[in-house]
Amino acid sequence: MSPQNISPVSALAQPITLKLSGKVIPNRLYRTPLSEYASSYDENNIESTGRPLPRYVELYQELADGGAGLICFGNIPVDRNSLENYNNAVLDPRNPWDPVEAFRPAIKAAKSRGALCLPQLQYPGRQVPDFINPHPKSSSDVQLEPCLNKTYGKPTPLSKAEIKELIGRYVWAAGVLAEAGADGIILHACHGYIINQFLSPKTNKRTDEYGGSLENRARFVLELVNAIKAKCPSRRFVIAAKLSCHDFMEGGQSFAEQCVVIKWLEEAGVDFFDISGGTYATPAWRGNIMTELAERPSRKERGSYFIEWAQELKKVLSRAVIGTTGGWRDSHRMAEAVAKGDIDMCGLGRPLREDPYFVNKAMREEVRFSECDIPDVPKSKL
Ligand SMILES: Cc1cc2nc3c(=O)[nH]c(=O)nc-3n(C[C@H](O)[C@H](O)[C@H](O)COP(=O)(O)O)c2cc1C
Repeated sequence: MSPQNISPVSALAQPITLKLSGKVIPNRLYRTPLSEYASSYDENNIESTGRPLPRYVELYQELADGGAGLICFGNIPVDRNSLENYNNAVLDPRNPWDPVEAFRPAIKAAKSRGALCLPQLQYPGRQVPDFINPHPKSSSDVQLEPCLNKTYGKPTPLSKAEIKELIGRYVWAAGVLAEAGADGIILHACHGYIINQFLSPKTNKRTDEYGGSLENRARFVLELVNAIKAKCPSRRFVIAAKLSCHDFMEGGQSFAEQCVVIKWLEEAGVDFFDISGGTYATPAWRGNIMTELAERPSRKERGSYFIEWAQELKKVLSRAVIGTTGGWRDSHRMAEAVAKGDIDMCGLGRPLREDPYFVNKAMREEVRFSECDIPDVPKSKL
């Protein structure tokens, strides 16, 4: 059926197939990765850190019941000493508990109504608050200035051996999640974390084969994708990436470069992209902090923070499915973007945190959040 022949909201109910894996996402709305803050943390017992608590499972059951076609878990750091924040779930091979059994219940819950489930793997690099780790590792030694009410230590550049070790951590975590029943993983390749730190000329000052040209700066993420593919060789295991369209920073990752990177990632086997943008220093994904972005006419007319860039990135792709997250609050605007073919899917973060049943309501055309209804921190915790 061509997009012109379908009613706006029914556009959102159309399934879509991830072509490499052959897996079908039952509709066009997904839960983007969003920290749950529902895992254990005890600074006096680091070994117990990052184990999902019962609330973690309940949350994914609610999201499954709420109808999202694809459910991503919030970021799961692959190193228990480098957390993006307290109470993150963690996959670190040194933890003494059984990681497969720890993650299996939440994955089962997320998939219980037919959604696909992609947990997000992450390493924060220099974006680890110094109260968690004052000695971070990054692509080079460029320190992050204080931002988002936190301060950050001066990073040490990862040696080549440490890069290999870090990739090994992601690969191990992907294998655990595959065994625990996940459909695949989504790499956190945006918001200024380690993959951005390698890609951006602003933070990557290396002179070896991981720095300099775009090809060199992209080496880390491409090696990562290839290593995960080698560990999880089934075409049925999905590799996805939440990718920046732009970091909105002078001298940083440009949109033009991201158009090349996304194509390389597709060729390497990434089957799904979730487009976002910004870094801790330029937190465009929060929508309300960078006024010049918030005031853009397209943002005001269409709601979405990144649709302008995401629809151009879609044109570069030949196979992968692409969505964008940030700002979607209105079912008609989401349906219009999908029906026109500007984007394949729409991602939801804070709306699903405020109301896990928002997707089913959107399918019934009931729906609308106004921007001011949704704070960064859940209302219940304010
Ligand atoms: C409290 C909070 C936690 C977040 N955690 C993550 C995360 O773990 N991984 C990620 O990729 N993005 C994370 N984000 C960004 C969101 O996924 C999303 O990109 C952003 O909230 C914009 O989408 P929205 O307008 O639908 O909320 C987080 C955002 C907030 C406000």
